[in-house]
Amino acid sequence: MIMKKILVTGGLGYIGSHTVVELQNSGYQVIIIDNLSNASLDVLEGITNITKTPPAFERLDLRLKADVADFFKRNQDIEGIIHFAASKAVGESVQNPLLYYENNLNTLIYLLQECNAHGIENFIFSSSCTVYGEPDSLPITEDAPVKSATSPYGNTKQISEEILKDTCSISALKSIALRYFNPIGAHETAEIGELPAGVPQNLVPFITQTAAGVREQLSVFGDDYPTEDGSCIRDYIHVVDLAKAHVIALQRLLSKKNQSNYEVFNLGTGRGSSVLEVVNSFEKTTGENLNYKIVDRRPGDVIAVYADTQKANKELGWKAEKTMEDALKSAWKWEKKIRKIK
Ligand SMILES: NC(=O)c1ccc[n+]([C@@H]2O[C@H](COP(=O)([O-])OP(=O)(O)OC[C@H]3O[C@@H](n4cnc5c(N)ncnc54)[C@H](O)[C@@H]3O)[C@@H](O)[C@H]2O)c1
Repeated sequence: MIMKKILVTGGLGYIGSHTVVELQNSGYQVIIIDNLSNASLDVLEGITNITKTPPAFERLDLRLKADVADFFKRNQDIEGIIHFAASKAVGESVQNPLLYYENNLNTLIYLLQECNAHGIENFIFSSSCTVYGEPDSLPITEDAPVKSATSPYGNTKQISEEILKDTCSISALKSIALRYFNPIGAHETAEIGELPAGVPQNLVPFITQTAAGVREQLSVFGDDYPTEDGSCIRDYIHVVDLAKAHVIALQRLLSKKNQSNYEVFNLGTGRGSSVLEVVNSFEKTTGENLNYKIVDRRPGDVIAVYADTQKANKELGWKAEKTMEDALKSAWKWEKKIRKIK
């Protein structure tokens, strides 16, 4: 059987590496591009240990237009691209907007130019629920208005979606933008997981690092929001469920099942969990006591965000299957492994 060759940019990163595993397990031949700006080469070994197949890998910076063109000249048989590579720290994007606009937009543009040049028609893009801002109603459907971005990072996702939509309207390109809610957890083998650089920006790695003694205390930002227990609500989705959605979205494009050349899907569980619920669930699932304290609200935090997943469930035929407990257990197993805790 001839295996279809898929380029995964940012494939050594958190979501990319889990997606490479699912692609290889589904019979695709994968080639990864990553510049290692937020990943380590060890991830290749983790992927290989799980799938027993080393994916092809090129260390390449997608900001270098000539190198990107050269890569596609040497790889004429790519049938689809899943584009994860981007910078993703919201706070850093406020401090260094040009880095974010350059890295998140130029890389997309160069890839799309190569798609045009080489007749590559299938393109999956990592978008985010940040495009919805503070939603007018819950759960959030794909028709909810895109709100003015509150950070350069968020803005790059909105602009990227526009770039894709415009390109799909005048070329053979077919694209699916997947709007992730809050990815958490790790592969059940603990061979791959999330590796935040510096102080984690997200709740779950902060929880596991606190439990592992890397951080002294977890701050819960506010317990006076208008929610049941007063803490903010998010839709936490297991990274393996998320990874599987990419394979399904890719298959939809490859088999021409898409209903239009540019489609958008929410990827979440459809269930909102409060920060305090996640903390309690972690303690219950792992038996660890977490040192946390309630502090003031953090500026810019949206009160509650969770997905309406009906479109993804019905049209894509994908549904999140794993539980919060699965995710927290796997995240803790991964943290213990990298910290060498028995
Ligand atoms: N993790 C989240 O909470 C989340 C939520 C919504 C959307 N997203 C988006 O999903 C995608 C993947 O996120 P992640 O959490 O896996 O991030 P990550 O940082 O773990 O992975 C991104 C990978 O891209 C690589 N990369 C960055 N710039 C590059 C460049 N110029 N050339 C080549 N490689 C480059 C990095 O080294 C890294 O391995 C990103 O586009 C991100 O914005 C993430």
